[in-house]
Order: sequence, then C-alpha cells, then structure tokens
Amino acid sequence: MATLEWADGKLRFIDQTLLPAQEVIVETADYRTVCQAIRSLKIRGAPAIGVAAAFGVLLAVRRPHLSGPGELLAVLDEAVRDLSATRPTAVNLFAAMRRMERSARGGGEMTVQAILARLAAEALAIQREDIASCRAIGECGADLIPPRSSLLTHCNAGALATAGEGTALAVVAAAARRGNVVRVFVDETRPLFQGARLTAWELVKQGIRTVLITDSTAGSVLARGDVNAVIVGADRIAANGDTANKVGTYPLAVLARRHDVPFYVAAPTSTIDPAVPDGSHIPIEERDEGEVTTFAGVRIAAPGVSVYAPAFDVTPGSLVSAIITERGILRPPYGESLAGILRGENAGGKGNGR
Ligand code: MRU
Repeated sequence: MATLEWADGKLRFIDQTLLPAQEVIVETADYRTVCQAIRSLKIRGAPAIGVAAAFGVLLAVRRPHLSGPGELLAVLDEAVRDLSATRPTAVNLFAAMRRMERSARGGGEMTVQAILARLAAEALAIQREDIASCRAIGECGADLIPPRSSLLTHCNAGALATAGEGTALAVVAAAARRGNVVRVFVDETRPLFQGARLTAWELVKQGIRTVLITDSTAGSVLARGDVNAVIVGADRIAANGDTANKVGTYPLAVLARRHDVPFYVAAPTSTIDPAVPDGSHIPIEERDEGEVTTFAGVRIAAPGVSVYAPAFDVTPGSLVSAIITERGILRPPYGESLAGILRGENAGGKGNGR
C-alpha cells in the first residue's frame, strides 16, 4: 500500500517505527492520533508529514453537529496549532497548514458543507501534487546519474517519506530503471536507523544492490573512490540554498567535496522556504535523549552522561552541487535559481513544468 492513504473519511498509514520487522497499518479518524504519529515518527519524512497533517486538519473539522462556519474555523485553528507543534524543521508541514487555512477562509462567506468540500479537495491536491513531484524529481535527477554509478544516501528519502515514490530514492529508482546504478551505499543513520530500517528495506524490495554501512564508514568508501554521487533529501531549503536534512548530512557533504564527488539534494519546491534567508534561521528539532542513550529499549550509555540530540543539521549551499526539484535541476548561485523557480521560471533538466 502507499505510505499514506485517505479512504472512507479515515487516514491509513504504515507505522514506520515498526519497520522492517512488522508492517502494521494504522487507521484513524482522530487528528490527535495523526499529531502523535508525526511526533513519534510513525509518519516521518518532510513531504509525508505535510500530506498527513493536511488530512489531519480534514479529520479535525469533519465532526458532526458543528453549529456553523464560525465553529468550524475555530476547530480548524486548534488543529492547525496542534499539528504545527509536532515537528519544527520540515517546512512542508507549515506550507500544508497555510494551504488548508487559505482554502477554508479564501472563498468568502461559505456554508459548513462548502468549506468541508474545499478542505477535502485541498488535502487531496497536496497529496496528488506530491505524488507528481516525486515522479518528476526521479526523472529529472536520473539525468545526473551516469552509467555504472555507485551512489550513497543518508536517512530515508523514499516512498515512506512522501506520498509518492520518494525524492532522493525516486532518483535512484529512475536511474536504476535506466540500468545506470551498480549499487547504493546506505548510511544506517543513527540514532533511529532510518537508513538501515527503511531505506535498505525499500531498495532491497526494488531489487537494487544495497550495501549498508555505519555512518562513520562513509568517509572510507568515499576515500576509496567507491562513490560516484551522494544524494539526499531535505527538510527545509533556505533562500540561499542552505539545506536542513537528517543529522549526519553535513559531514557527508564535506566528505563529498573533499573527494570531488557531486553532492545532490532532491526535494520538491514545497521544501523551499523563501522566508528563511539562510540555514542559521532554520529551526532544528532536538529529540529526546533516550533515542541516543538506548538501543532497542536497552540502555547503552553510561549513567549520568548528558546528551545533545539534534534531529537535523544544515549543509551550506556552497557544498551542494545541484538541487533536483520537480521543476528541474537548480545550480548555484542558489539565491538566484531558487528565487527564479519560485517565480515560475524554468530550470535546467526536464521537470513537470508546473
Ligand atoms: O526525522 P525524519 O526521519 O523525519 O527525517 C527525515 C529526513 O531527514 C529526510 O531525509 C527528509 O525529510 C527528506 S524526505 C523526502
């Protein structure tokens, strides 16, 4: 099944915390369950969080006995507040919330039924657009992957992280369909192992040769000349191209530059935040220390130690060789190319031209 599905007034999603051991589908009509699922990473990955939160808003307002549009909008505001408080870094969440708010308020005086219909259409549009973006990112990005490539990726930017085929992993899949991928090195991605659990699961299912490495092995494989390109997703891209992604991405970009290997970021334009001038303004989520001090429920850290557990880091745009979007491939200087793409100008490569 798809990572997220809307059917019969309910949201269905795979509980990603249980993968790959168990494939458990959760079905809910309660937006608070969606909030909890995002917070606990049952639903994760920037685009998937945005899509799930849009359906979360829809679940919140689909309640019987609303007295009128005023009460519906009050319920919507509360749901948007709760969903926005789940995770701070991925901008897709906030972009989706803005779209849901605009569709509820942007049509003038409306009946409850009319607002509900607009909200349902908007949530489905956000999902549909993400599916189309993933496909376009894959085809665009595959043009950057020459024959016989070995790739390296970090965290999970695959189908599980989006409503579609993924971002970085859509590029891998499209390049593999063209016969150009020899193997993919997958960083295990401490502390929650999105690489080992999720990316490896997705790639092996697709029949792509997958080599799992610990995060600290990345330097060695790059130094040996075993990697032709590094490709990752993004949680938020600042106006100057600085990119927040899973912690551990920045050191990979430094290593890639050191070894003269291209470092690509694949993300839909909904991940670009033009309101944030550079990476220093991107809010970086800090996770509970238990995610670092324990492994599979067993404490591994010495008692009394303190912990610093940021979920993301920021890679300066100066280390990014290209940003692959659904509208084409962006090159430095990103201040100009990102502003241009948001104005609707064409980028290089073939995007979906939206
Ligand atoms: O904490 P997570 O698992 O939500 O972090 C996810 C990532 O960092 C992904 O690389 C990013 O969201 C891009 S997903 C297409």
